[in-house]
Formats: sequence, structure tokens, C-alpha cells
Amino acid sequence: MDKNATYQLLAKQVESLIEGEHNPTGQLANAAALLHETMGWWWTGFYLINDNELQLGPFQGPVACYSIKCGRGVCGTAWQDNRTIVVPDVEQFPGHIACSSLSRSEIVVPLRDGEGNVIGVLDIDSKELATFDDDDARGLEAIARVIERHVFNPSS
Ligand code: SME
Repeated sequence: MDKNATYQLLAKQVESLIEGEHNPTGQLANAAALLHETMGWWWTGFYLINDNELQLGPFQGPVACYSIKCGRGVCGTAWQDNRTIVVPDVEQFPGHIACSSLSRSEIVVPLRDGEGNVIGVLDIDSKELATFDDDDARGLEAIARVIERHVFNPSS
């Protein structure tokens, strides 16, 4: 199966896993588990904005740092710029925050409220260089829209 088809299927699986539930921690934990187990990434999880910083949310993988300021690291830059960031080689990203020394490449996708403001990020790390490209960005952005709809805006 090619990458685009894989992501289309994953988006449907995430949706059926989290729709109709009213437990954001559980929904995000299960979404992270499904993505992580299916794709075999090194770290898959969420940081959510609280007290004007990104705070560690549900994830799968090794232990991670608790908080990230706006503009710091890949996550804080994705928040500040309100855009997906693909990092083929984390050593080439100025200010990258190394939660795990084994992470080599990364993608961070913003989660937004109904007005387009960033409310958190989906952060994924790989142990290989250049794991993520534009296809991953588009696929994960579609999954982020599903998560926003069913976790953060469930009545719409
Ligand atoms: N590398 C991220 C920090 C979070 S860990 O990857 C889980 C960053 O630079 O923002």
C-alpha cells in the first residue's frame, strides 16, 4: 500500500477509534497508540497548550520533556508559526530539543481550535533520517483535523 493510501486508512481508523467518546486523555492516548503501533515510529504523541506553554500529553515511546515554550524546539516553532514542520535531520534544526538521543528525524503538526488558533501539536520522532516528507505532512494534517473534530470540538 502506498503512503497516501496508508494515511487515508489510518485517518478512518483513528476516527472510528475516537468518535463518540468524551474522554480527551483516553482519545489522544488511543490515537497515539494506533499511529505508533501501525507505523513503527520511535515516539508518537501530543503536547497541549496550557499556561502559555506546550505541556506533555498522551504519548507512546520513551519518556519525554514536560514543557516547551513558544518558539522553542521543533514543537514550539510549529506553534509559533502555526504550520507543519518536517525535519529530515534533527541535528540540522537550530534549537531542536533532544528528548531522546536516538531521534534522528521529526515531524510536528499543529492542532487548532475552530478559529484556527493552535491548541497543541502532534509530534512524531523517528530513529532514521528523513523519515517524513510532504506526503506524511498531508496525511498527518488530515488526521489532525479528525482529532480536532472529535476530541476538541465534539459537538460540531
Ligand atoms: N524534539 C521536540 C521535543 C519533543 S520530543 O521530540 C518528544 C522539539 O524539538 O520540539
